[in-house]
Amino acid sequence: MPRVPVMADPMPPLFHELLGDGYEVLPWDLQPGSASLERAVGIITYSHPKVDGALLDRMPNLKVVSNHGVGVDHINVPDAEARKIPVGNTPGCLDAATADLTMALILATARNVVVGDRYARSPEFTHYDPSILIGHEVSGTTLGIIGLGRIGRQVARRALAFDMRVLYFNRTRNEDAEQDLNVTYVPFDDLLGQSDFIALNCPLTRETTGLISGPQFALMKKSAILVNMARGPVVDHAALYDALKSGQIAGAGIDVTDPEPLPRDHPLLSLGNLVITPHLGSASDRTRRRMMEMTIENLNAGVTGQPLSWQVRSPK
Ligand code: DGY
Repeated sequence: MPRVPVMADPMPPLFHELLGDGYEVLPWDLQPGSASLERAVGIITYSHPKVDGALLDRMPNLKVVSNHGVGVDHINVPDAEARKIPVGNTPGCLDAATADLTMALILATARNVVVGDRYARSPEFTHYDPSILIGHEVSGTTLGIIGLGRIGRQVARRALAFDMRVLYFNRTRNEDAEQDLNVTYVPFDDLLGQSDFIALNCPLTRETTGLISGPQFALMKKSAILVNMARGPVVDHAALYDALKSGQIAGAGIDVTDPEPLPRDHPLLSLGNLVITPHLGSASDRTRRRMMEMTIENLNAGVTGQPLSWQVRSPK
């Protein structure tokens, strides 16, 4: 049987193993005359390479774009739809892992986990001192979730187990979630003003780009901690730096940045009240394996002209 050619950016061995022998994986090669562009019937986007109409127009045999991950802001879905190329993603399977890391960043930032780790390894740690690294209590405080989708709801469940009061803001109010979860809808500015922790769990869209900037930081409590698990461009990084540096807010935990990664000399990286992780939201063994399986299921469907199990559709 001839193997089906697919173009992919570099993927780990497990992904190749799960793909099996039925596929020939071609390199992500955008040079003029690229055999990958000429031959590929499918695209796998593993680490967010950009896909737009200009690329699709160079791929005469393409039938499907299958994204490893739920966020597809790096793929121009309307461009793909205009060319009748379905785009698949992997919703649902990563909600728990991403919510877990949201809580991890809340706790790490509030309770000095990273600074404490460095200190505990250093020669300065000579005796137990109850007066150092006094953090902010998490239990019993107020969490504001921006974006009460699948991941946001999982964050709410975890926060409720920490006896937190949970506020949320979402494009559309979700009364079912309010009943199921005991979360309270508040206007955006009220959420910013009332929350001790603010978790960004929304997708990156035109509306959420630059959602948190100077005026929004000005509404937050001085003791507030912002956690960004969404996408870097949701937060204006210059304003975030100013807010952290000036004490406008107490801290931030960010899993995503703009650009990603930040230049090594970016001022944010010099701040002690910032905890940063390298886009690890869904990075647990079980979740990553399931993401690969779903990516392959979408790919299999697309290359054989079947409906995708998880197809992204642009809002009408
Ligand atoms: C997602 O699923 O969107 C994660 O950010 C990984 O791509």
